[in-house]
Amino acid sequence: MNGRAIVIRGDARALPLPDASVDLICTSPPYWALRDYRDGGESLKGQIGAEASPQEYLESLWECTREWMRVLKPEGSIFVVLGDKYSDRADGGPASAQSWREDRAGCMPPGRSSTAMAPRKSRLMLPERYRIGCLDLGLLVRAVIIWSKPSAMPERVTDRVRNVHEDIVHLTKLPRYYAAIDEIRTPASGYARKPGARRATPPGQRRRAMADTVNPLGAPPSSVWEIASQPLKVPDHLNDDHYAAFPPALVRPIVLGWSPDDGVVLDPFGGSGTTALVAAAFGRRGVTTDLSAGYCRLAQWRTTDPGERARALDVPRPPSLVDGQAALFGESA
Ligand SMILES: C[S@@+](CC[C@H](N)C(=O)[O-])C[C@H]1O[C@@H](n2cnc3c(N)ncnc32)[C@H](O)[C@@H]1O
Repeated sequence: MNGRAIVIRGDARALPLPDASVDLICTSPPYWALRDYRDGGESLKGQIGAEASPQEYLESLWECTREWMRVLKPEGSIFVVLGDKYSDRADGGPASAQSWREDRAGCMPPGRSSTAMAPRKSRLMLPERYRIGCLDLGLLVRAVIIWSKPSAMPERVTDRVRNVHEDIVHLTKLPRYYAAIDEIRTPASGYARKPGARRATPPGQRRRAMADTVNPLGAPPSSVWEIASQPLKVPDHLNDDHYAAFPPALVRPIVLGWSPDDGVVLDPFGGSGTTALVAAAFGRRGVTTDLSAGYCRLAQWRTTDPGERARALDVPRPPSLVDGQAALFGESA
């Protein structure tokens, strides 16, 4: 395996990459009105997520998605992790459901989606609206995966369930695309059956042995993935941090299942570079882009650090010095 990672400072809406050059995109855009991403202590200019309204935010995301379709090979896949927000009228809309309905009738320009606003306390339904817009762009929505987070931040709510998951949408350009599900099948414990067992055959259908339908490598992964978040430990000399980094365990099955061994894997909102790190650790070429020079420095460190590569591979961290060589570096063994 000779994977490597490339870090590029750039805008997710205008990537410096040729047409049809990428096998897989795995990314998480900034959520709307949640964080102010920084660069050298300053608010990051041109950042997505800072739009004045949810509708403008969605327009930015679809602009990015059109650019990703340009760089994606026809047989490629796109995975997007996207979170939702509750309406708190920060977008200037009316406060009650009653006035929301009246206001919507009066102010919504013709042809605009009537879901551009939501009453106070309602979810904005941003992941759902993003996916519907992707269908309009000509993409196929192949799956929606629930990323269940056992270590989700506590929420102080008294009248609804706690949110402990985010959605990951799997998009493709074509009905037939690259997939290597055998790489990520889960052990076949639930599939156990007695040798020679047959299932009931509906009248008029050919009788098939159950062996036809059981894969000895296991079942395809389910649409619910339970994966804990992992805090990132950044060395002091980088003087930076990233609070929204993917856990490598989330990216691993996506890279192994939907990119060829020598493929190119891109994260256009690369942040600390997790996608490129995992892709390179598994022999692919990882490309990570971010608008912030600070986060690009972070990604540069992360994608070349042996300890981070071990985390990506889920193996023990290598010793900092080879056994028996400490004396050569003036350190006691
Ligand atoms: C949710 S974080 C991604 C974290 C990443 N998955 C990781 O593992 O570290 C979103 C990133 O998008 C970047 N960003 C915001 N607007 C951008 C734009 N227009 N183009 C490229 N990157 C942008 C932010 O700087 C931030 O690092």
